[in-house]
Amino acid sequence: MRRNRTLIIGAVLFLAGATGLMSLYSSPLSMAGMMGGGMMMDRDGMKSMMKEMMGAQLPPGVDPNDLPEPQSNGAQLLARYCVQCHNLPGPGMHTAEEWPRVVDRMNQRMQMMSGHNMMRMMHGIEAPEDSELEALLAYLQKHAQKPMDKTLYKDLNTPAGKLFDTTCSQCHALPDPKQHTSDEWPAVIQRMTRNMASMGKPVPNQEALETILSYLQKHAK
Ligand code: HEC
Ligand code: HEC
Repeated sequence: MRRNRTLIIGAVLFLAGATGLMSLYSSPLSMAGMMGGGMMMDRDGMKSMMKEMMGAQLPPGVDPNDLPEPQSNGAQLLARYCVQCHNLPGPGMHTAEEWPRVVDRMNQRMQMMSGHNMMRMMHGIEAPEDSELEALLAYLQKHAQKPMDKTLYKDLNTPAGKLFDTTCSQCHALPDPKQHTSDEWPAVIQRMTRNMASMGKPVPNQEALETILSYLQKHAK
Protein backbone atom coordinates (compact mmCIF):
# COMPACT_ATOMS: atom_id res chain seq x y z
CA MET A 1 0.00 0.00 0.00
CA ARG A 2 2.67 2.42 1.03
CA ARG A 3 4.67 1.61 -2.07
CA ASN A 4 1.64 2.08 -4.28
CA ARG A 5 0.97 5.40 -2.78
CA THR A 6 4.52 6.57 -3.37
CA LEU A 7 4.25 5.43 -6.96
CA ILE A 8 1.06 7.31 -7.52
CA ILE A 9 2.35 10.53 -6.01
CA GLY A 10 5.57 10.22 -7.96
CA ALA A 11 3.58 9.71 -11.13
CA VAL A 12 1.50 12.79 -10.49
CA LEU A 13 4.62 14.89 -9.96
CA PHE A 14 6.05 13.76 -13.25
CA LEU A 15 3.00 13.94 -15.37
CA ALA A 16 1.30 17.03 -14.01
CA GLY A 17 1.94 20.14 -16.05
CA ALA A 18 2.95 23.28 -14.19
CA THR A 19 -0.63 24.12 -13.30
CA GLY A 20 -1.48 20.67 -12.11
CA LEU A 21 1.60 20.56 -10.00
CA MET A 22 1.12 24.00 -8.50
CA SER A 23 -2.42 23.29 -7.47
CA LEU A 24 -1.27 20.04 -5.94
CA TYR A 25 1.49 21.84 -4.11
CA SER A 26 -0.74 24.54 -2.74
CA SER A 27 -3.47 22.23 -1.57
CA PRO A 28 -2.97 21.68 2.17
CA LEU A 29 -5.02 18.54 2.05
CA SER A 30 -2.98 16.73 -0.53
CA MET A 31 0.23 18.00 1.01
CA ALA A 32 -0.77 16.57 4.37
CA GLY A 33 -1.61 13.32 2.67
CA MET A 34 1.76 13.20 1.04
CA MET A 35 3.62 13.94 4.20
CA GLY A 36 1.68 11.36 6.13
CA GLY A 37 2.63 8.73 3.60
CA GLY A 38 6.29 9.23 4.42
CA MET A 39 7.17 9.49 0.79
CA MET A 40 10.82 9.37 0.04
CA MET A 41 11.73 7.90 -3.28
CA ASP A 42 15.32 7.44 -4.30
CA ARG A 43 16.51 8.07 -7.80
CA ASP A 44 16.60 4.44 -8.86
CA GLY A 45 13.11 3.87 -7.57
CA MET A 46 11.92 6.87 -9.50
CA LYS A 47 13.64 5.80 -12.70
CA SER A 48 12.19 2.33 -12.64
CA MET A 49 8.74 3.72 -11.93
CA MET A 50 9.10 6.00 -14.96
CA LYS A 51 10.18 3.08 -17.11
CA GLU A 52 7.17 1.03 -16.09
CA MET A 53 4.82 3.86 -16.85
CA MET A 54 6.19 5.42 -19.99
CA GLY A 55 9.00 3.22 -21.26
CA ALA A 56 8.38 3.81 -24.97
CA GLN A 57 8.51 7.60 -24.60
CA LEU A 58 11.84 7.64 -22.82
CA PRO A 59 15.33 7.66 -24.33
CA PRO A 60 16.67 4.08 -24.57
CA GLY A 61 20.02 5.28 -23.24
CA VAL A 62 23.56 5.42 -24.58
CA ASP A 63 26.78 4.42 -22.89
CA PRO A 64 28.50 7.65 -21.67
CA ASN A 65 31.66 6.47 -23.45
CA ASP A 66 29.76 6.35 -26.75
CA LEU A 67 28.86 10.04 -26.49
CA PRO A 68 30.65 12.28 -28.99
CA GLU A 69 33.48 14.19 -27.27
CA PRO A 70 32.84 12.38 -23.98
CA GLN A 71 35.31 14.59 -22.08
CA SER A 72 33.74 17.87 -23.16
CA ASN A 73 31.85 20.10 -20.78
CA GLY A 74 28.60 19.50 -22.69
CA ALA A 75 28.90 15.71 -22.46
CA GLN A 76 29.60 15.94 -18.72
CA LEU A 77 26.62 18.19 -18.16
CA LEU A 78 24.41 15.81 -20.12
CA ALA A 79 25.61 12.88 -18.03
CA ARG A 80 24.97 14.87 -14.86
CA TYR A 81 21.56 16.44 -15.44
CA CYS A 82 19.89 14.27 -18.04
CA VAL A 83 20.11 10.93 -16.25
CA GLN A 84 18.14 11.97 -13.21
CA CYS A 85 14.84 10.56 -14.47
CA HIS A 86 15.72 8.33 -17.39
CA ASN A 87 18.65 6.85 -19.31
CA LEU A 88 21.27 9.03 -20.96
CA PRO A 89 19.75 10.53 -24.14
CA GLY A 90 22.02 10.52 -27.23
CA PRO A 91 22.30 13.83 -29.17
CA GLY A 92 21.27 11.94 -32.35
CA MET A 93 17.68 11.61 -31.13
CA HIS A 94 16.82 15.06 -32.44
CA THR A 95 17.92 17.56 -35.06
CA ALA A 96 19.53 20.88 -34.07
CA GLU A 97 16.23 22.53 -34.87
CA GLU A 98 14.24 20.21 -32.59
CA TRP A 99 16.49 20.20 -29.50
CA PRO A 100 15.57 23.61 -28.02
CA ARG A 101 11.93 22.60 -27.49
CA VAL A 102 12.85 19.26 -25.93
CA VAL A 103 15.49 20.78 -23.64
CA ASP A 104 13.06 23.48 -22.62
CA ARG A 105 10.45 20.87 -21.63
CA MET A 106 13.03 18.92 -19.62
CA ASN A 107 14.36 22.08 -17.97
CA GLN A 108 10.88 23.07 -16.84
CA ARG A 109 10.59 19.73 -15.09
CA MET A 110 13.97 20.12 -13.42
CA GLN A 111 13.33 23.70 -12.30
CA MET A 112 9.95 22.73 -10.95
CA MET A 113 11.20 19.74 -9.05
CA SER A 114 14.22 21.47 -7.55
CA GLY A 115 12.52 24.76 -6.86
CA HIS A 116 10.62 23.86 -3.73
CA ASN A 117 12.40 22.48 -0.73
CA MET A 118 9.66 19.93 -0.41
CA MET A 119 10.19 18.58 -3.90
CA ARG A 120 13.95 18.58 -3.66
CA MET A 121 13.70 16.62 -0.47
CA MET A 122 11.46 14.08 -2.12
CA HIS A 123 13.34 13.50 -5.30
CA GLY A 124 16.75 15.16 -5.02
CA ILE A 125 16.46 16.60 -8.53
CA GLU A 126 19.16 19.09 -9.51
CA ALA A 127 18.47 21.81 -12.08
CA PRO A 128 21.13 23.44 -14.30
CA GLU A 129 22.17 27.10 -14.12
CA ASP A 130 21.41 29.18 -17.21
CA SER A 131 25.02 28.97 -18.41
CA GLU A 132 25.03 25.20 -17.98
CA LEU A 133 21.78 24.90 -19.87
CA GLU A 134 23.26 26.90 -22.74
CA ALA A 135 26.31 24.64 -22.87
CA LEU A 136 24.07 21.57 -22.79
CA LEU A 137 21.95 22.79 -25.66
CA ALA A 138 25.00 23.81 -27.70
CA TYR A 139 26.46 20.34 -27.23
CA LEU A 140 23.24 18.59 -28.25
CA GLN A 141 22.89 20.82 -31.31
CA LYS A 142 26.49 20.37 -32.36
CA HIS A 143 26.11 16.59 -32.38
CA ALA A 144 22.45 16.48 -33.33
CA GLN A 145 20.88 14.20 -35.92
CA LYS A 146 21.63 15.53 -39.41
CA PRO A 147 18.40 15.21 -41.37
CA MET A 148 18.57 14.00 -44.96
CA ASP A 149 17.65 16.47 -47.66
CA LYS A 150 15.27 14.19 -49.54
CA THR A 151 15.29 16.32 -52.68
CA LEU A 152 18.94 15.42 -53.28
CA TYR A 153 18.32 11.67 -53.42
CA LYS A 154 16.49 10.50 -56.53
CA ASP A 155 16.85 6.85 -55.53
CA LEU A 156 14.72 7.25 -52.40
CA ASN A 157 11.79 5.68 -54.32
CA THR A 158 13.71 2.54 -55.21
CA PRO A 159 12.82 -0.44 -52.96
CA ALA A 160 16.06 0.02 -50.98
CA GLY A 161 15.48 3.75 -50.57
CA LYS A 162 11.91 3.22 -49.40
CA LEU A 163 12.96 0.58 -46.90
CA PHE A 164 15.57 2.96 -45.51
CA ASP A 165 13.02 5.79 -45.36
CA THR A 166 10.28 3.86 -43.53
CA THR A 167 12.67 2.05 -41.18
CA CYS A 168 14.95 4.88 -40.17
CA SER A 169 12.47 7.71 -39.72
CA GLN A 170 10.37 6.06 -37.01
CA CYS A 171 12.12 7.70 -34.05
CA HIS A 172 14.03 10.66 -35.46
CA ALA A 173 14.42 12.58 -38.71
CA LEU A 174 15.61 10.45 -41.63
CA PRO A 175 19.43 10.45 -41.18
CA ASP A 176 21.69 12.02 -43.77
CA PRO A 177 23.91 9.15 -45.07
CA LYS A 178 26.79 11.66 -45.31
CA GLN A 179 27.11 11.92 -41.54
CA HIS A 180 29.13 8.67 -41.46
CA THR A 181 31.71 6.85 -43.53
CA SER A 182 31.03 3.42 -45.02
CA ASP A 183 33.09 1.86 -42.26
CA GLU A 184 31.14 3.57 -39.51
CA TRP A 185 27.61 2.68 -40.67
CA PRO A 186 27.53 -1.02 -39.68
CA ALA A 187 28.09 -0.24 -35.98
CA VAL A 188 25.47 2.54 -36.06
CA ILE A 189 22.88 0.19 -37.59
CA GLN A 190 23.76 -2.41 -34.98
CA ARG A 191 23.11 0.11 -32.22
CA MET A 192 19.83 1.12 -33.87
CA THR A 193 18.56 -2.46 -33.76
CA ARG A 194 19.12 -2.34 -29.99
CA ASN A 195 17.26 0.98 -29.83
CA MET A 196 14.40 -0.59 -31.79
CA ALA A 197 14.22 -3.54 -29.44
CA SER A 198 14.19 -1.37 -26.32
CA MET A 199 11.73 1.16 -27.74
CA GLY A 200 9.26 -1.49 -28.84
CA LYS A 201 9.69 -1.09 -32.61
CA PRO A 202 9.93 -4.09 -34.94
CA VAL A 203 13.52 -5.10 -35.73
CA PRO A 204 14.00 -5.73 -39.48
CA ASN A 205 15.43 -9.10 -40.54
CA GLN A 206 19.05 -9.52 -41.61
CA GLU A 207 18.31 -9.15 -45.30
CA ALA A 208 16.46 -5.87 -44.77
CA LEU A 209 19.26 -4.53 -42.58
CA GLU A 210 21.80 -5.36 -45.26
CA THR A 211 19.72 -3.59 -47.89
CA ILE A 212 19.56 -0.48 -45.71
CA LEU A 213 23.28 -0.68 -45.00
CA SER A 214 24.19 -0.81 -48.67
CA TYR A 215 21.92 2.15 -49.37
CA LEU A 216 23.69 4.14 -46.65
CA GLN A 217 27.13 3.05 -47.78
CA LYS A 218 26.39 3.99 -51.35
CA HIS A 219 25.81 7.58 -50.20
CA ALA A 220 28.22 7.66 -47.24
CA LYS A 221 30.78 10.42 -46.82
C1 HEC B 1 12.78 15.59 -13.94
C2 HEC B 1 12.85 14.42 -14.78
C3 HEC B 1 13.59 14.56 -16.11
C4 HEC B 1 14.84 15.06 -16.33
C5 HEC B 1 15.84 15.58 -15.30
C6 HEC B 1 15.09 14.97 -17.75
N1 HEC B 1 14.02 14.37 -18.37
FE1 HEC B 1 13.89 13.87 -20.34
N2 HEC B 1 12.05 13.02 -20.01
C7 HEC B 1 11.35 13.07 -18.82
C8 HEC B 1 10.02 12.51 -19.04
C9 HEC B 1 8.93 12.39 -17.98
C10 HEC B 1 9.95 12.12 -20.39
C11 HEC B 1 8.76 11.49 -21.17
C12 HEC B 1 7.71 12.54 -21.52
C13 HEC B 1 8.20 13.61 -22.46
O1 HEC B 1 8.76 13.31 -23.54
O2 HEC B 1 8.08 14.81 -22.11
C14 HEC B 1 11.25 12.43 -20.97
C15 HEC B 1 11.60 12.15 -22.27
C16 HEC B 1 12.78 12.55 -22.87
C17 HEC B 1 13.12 12.31 -24.26
C18 HEC B 1 12.28 11.49 -25.26
C19 HEC B 1 11.12 12.29 -25.76
C20 HEC B 1 11.51 13.21 -26.87
O3 HEC B 1 10.89 14.29 -27.02
O4 HEC B 1 12.44 12.89 -27.63
C21 HEC B 1 14.32 12.93 -24.49
C22 HEC B 1 15.10 12.97 -25.78
C23 HEC B 1 14.73 13.55 -23.24
N3 HEC B 1 13.79 13.28 -22.28
C24 HEC B 1 15.89 14.30 -23.09
C25 HEC B 1 16.31 14.87 -21.89
C26 HEC B 1 17.48 15.72 -21.76
C27 HEC B 1 18.40 16.13 -22.88
C28 HEC B 1 17.59 16.03 -20.43
C29 HEC B 1 18.62 16.91 -19.77
C30 HEC B 1 18.70 18.27 -20.30
C31 HEC B 1 16.46 15.40 -19.73
N4 HEC B 1 15.72 14.71 -20.66
C32 HEC B 1 16.23 15.46 -18.37
C33 HEC B 1 11.83 13.53 -17.60
C34 HEC B 1 13.06 14.12 -17.40
C1 HEC C 1 13.48 2.71 -32.27
C2 HEC C 1 13.90 4.07 -32.57
C3 HEC C 1 14.96 4.25 -33.61
C4 HEC C 1 14.96 3.79 -34.91
C5 HEC C 1 13.89 2.99 -35.62
C6 HEC C 1 16.19 4.25 -35.50
N1 HEC C 1 16.90 4.99 -34.60
FE1 HEC C 1 18.61 6.00 -34.94
N2 HEC C 1 18.62 6.71 -33.02
C7 HEC C 1 17.70 6.36 -32.07
C8 HEC C 1 18.12 6.90 -30.79
C9 HEC C 1 17.39 6.72 -29.49
C10 HEC C 1 19.32 7.61 -31.02
C11 HEC C 1 20.19 8.35 -29.98
C12 HEC C 1 20.95 7.33 -29.15
C13 HEC C 1 22.01 6.62 -29.94
O1 HEC C 1 22.84 7.31 -30.58
O2 HEC C 1 22.02 5.37 -29.91
C14 HEC C 1 19.58 7.47 -32.45
C15 HEC C 1 20.67 8.06 -33.09
C16 HEC C 1 20.96 7.89 -34.43
C17 HEC C 1 22.09 8.51 -35.10
C18 HEC C 1 23.05 9.53 -34.49
C19 HEC C 1 24.09 8.86 -33.64
C20 HEC C 1 25.27 8.38 -34.44
O3 HEC C 1 25.91 7.40 -34.02
O4 HEC C 1 25.57 8.97 -35.51
C21 HEC C 1 22.09 8.04 -36.38
C22 HEC C 1 23.06 8.42 -37.48
C23 HEC C 1 20.97 7.12 -36.50
N3 HEC C 1 20.30 7.08 -35.31
C24 HEC C 1 20.69 6.40 -37.64
C25 HEC C 1 19.62 5.50 -37.78
C26 HEC C 1 19.40 4.65 -38.93
C27 HEC C 1 20.27 4.57 -40.15
C28 HEC C 1 18.25 3.96 -38.69
C29 HEC C 1 17.58 2.91 -39.55
C30 HEC C 1 18.33 1.68 -39.69
C31 HEC C 1 17.76 4.38 -37.37
N4 HEC C 1 18.63 5.29 -36.85
C32 HEC C 1 16.59 3.92 -36.77
C33 HEC C 1 16.56 5.63 -32.24
C34 HEC C 1 16.19 5.01 -33.43
